[in-house]
Amino acid sequence: MIFTVAIDGPAAAGKGTISRAVAERFGLRHLDTGLLYRAVGAKGGDPVQAALALTPDDLLRDDLRSLGAGEAASRVAVIPEVRTALVDFQKRFARAEGGAVLDGRDIGTVICPEAEVKLFVTASAPVRAHRRWKEVGGDEAEVLAQVIERDRRDAERATAPMVAAPDALLLDTTEMSISAAVETAARAIREVIEQGRA
Ligand code: C5P
Repeated sequence: MIFTVAIDGPAAAGKGTISRAVAERFGLRHLDTGLLYRAVGAKGGDPVQAALALTPDDLLRDDLRSLGAGEAASRVAVIPEVRTALVDFQKRFARAEGGAVLDGRDIGTVICPEAEVKLFVTASAPVRAHRRWKEVGGDEAEVLAQVIERDRRDAERATAPMVAAPDALLLDTTEMSISAAVETAARAIREVIEQGRA
């Protein structure tokens, strides 16, 4: 079975939790594509060379989830050659036998426009900043400023900007619990499977 679930959206909207939950429920492999950009940003040096030489071990660093790593990731993610270096791996992961869930910013638009299920998960910036702040602590106003700046950089870049695919199901988690969002996502996937489109 070749079956791809593309889950895009801004930071801290709930993509990661939803992706992991539906991957487990439907027995699909999962790739957090943000981790690729975080690992490139964390390597330092020339980002294009870092992307070309990326290895699975680079994804195991324990400092990739920090706010600083997210910030560095969004800076290298604007470089077209960095994105090109990471495309093939993501495309192969998406269409390999067995089915996959990928979450990121450009999965439904660039990496896998043919995905059988596309979701765009979002929430207001203050709500996303509050969730992130609960994880990382520090000054909440500063976390909000970083979230807004990262959204801007991701949405305004020329190559593969963060945008919902025209056929994506929009999931706004501002006032929705993440478990309700997981159920909505699971229902959308089940419908496609039951219609035999998978
Ligand atoms: O999703 P996460 O917050 O880990 O992503 C970190 C950064 O990596 C994003 O802000 C974005 O700049 C970049 N990214 C991207 N395309 C993806 C996934 C992440 O440009 N598919």
